[in-house]
Amino acid sequence: MRDQLSLVLQAARRRGRAPDHVLLSGPPGLGKTTLAMIIAAELGTSLRVTSGPAIQHAGDLAAVLSSLEEGEVLFLDEIHRLARPAEELLYVAMEDFRVDVVVGKGAGASAIPLALPPFTVVGATTRAGLLPAPLRDRFGFTGHLDFYETHELERVLLRSAGLLGAPLAADAAAEIASRSRGTPRIANRLLRRVRDWAEVRGDGSLDLGAARAALEVYEVDERGLDRLDRAVLSALCTRFGGGPVGLTTLAVAVGEEPETVETVAEPFLVREGLIGRTPRGRVALPGAWEHLGLEPVAGPGTLFG
Ligand SMILES: Nc1ncnc2c1ncn2[C@@H]1O[C@H](COP(=O)(O)OP(=O)(O)O)[C@@H](O)[C@H]1O
Ligand SMILES: [Mg+2]
Repeated sequence: MRDQLSLVLQAARRRGRAPDHVLLSGPPGLGKTTLAMIIAAELGTSLRVTSGPAIQHAGDLAAVLSSLEEGEVLFLDEIHRLARPAEELLYVAMEDFRVDVVVGKGAGASAIPLALPPFTVVGATTRAGLLPAPLRDRFGFTGHLDFYETHELERVLLRSAGLLGAPLAADAAAEIASRSRGTPRIANRLLRRVRDWAEVRGDGSLDLGAARAALEVYEVDERGLDRLDRAVLSALCTRFGGGPVGLTTLAVAVGEEPETVETVAEPFLVREGLIGRTPRGRVALPGAWEHLGLEPVAGPGTLFG
């Protein structure tokens, strides 16, 4: 994706024009916001940041759009949570570089078209599927970020440790990487906890012993599951007999918002083959029971019953 994106940016730079709008999708913590900053930096322009939930009314978006300068990058985080009227305003702005400013109310209201300088929208979403097709179609390039491989996370960790000024042993990097659920944000967070442990309870060196001890304190298991992941698995296996159970019910059982369970815990658990999504709800797969050290309950609802 880096290759694809760099082509889009280089071509635009050569033409001296703002590049096509870019949509970045993927689970949290994989680098969408970071990439938006990189896009602006590569174009030598500034980044304006806002998000779907921060825009309550179409007028809020109109205000942001009309203050954009030529070639600027507008980062719209959580774009799937933009309100419908704002979304419609955005279509027009993205396609025709124009906003219609509504003056007055009721029958006397009129729309004054306001031309905008060319700019680039970088949208980020954890749920590309929720974007209405007309909005999705206005992005000239869509990049999907996927979970990282362990060896890629090791590189991220070694670099981060360098920035922290704390040399990280290769085996410790491998250990942290393998428990980071494919996510650079988690890898960096665990690294900071390992450093805390090393400084407070260890001799300051970030070695394998420090990594293992710190990860135990923070309840990150050998497969990288944290407390929420295990809560979801164990609710699914023990309280709902392996499912199927609806997302909302499952979220209530673990005391979380459905959106958190769906975007934070679930993608990793599905990818690891621990849970499955069916039209009737979430089900525990054999690996889930095994991971929790439980005997599978072969109820009528389970996939393998
Ligand atoms: N390829 C990468 N190399 C190094 N660090 C990365 C990489 N991708 C993401 N990160 C780091 O992970 C963290 C989360 O990235 P962020 O861009 O906030 O993710 P998102 O916006 O997708 O939730 C940041 O601290 C970022 O620096
Ligand atoms: Mg982000």
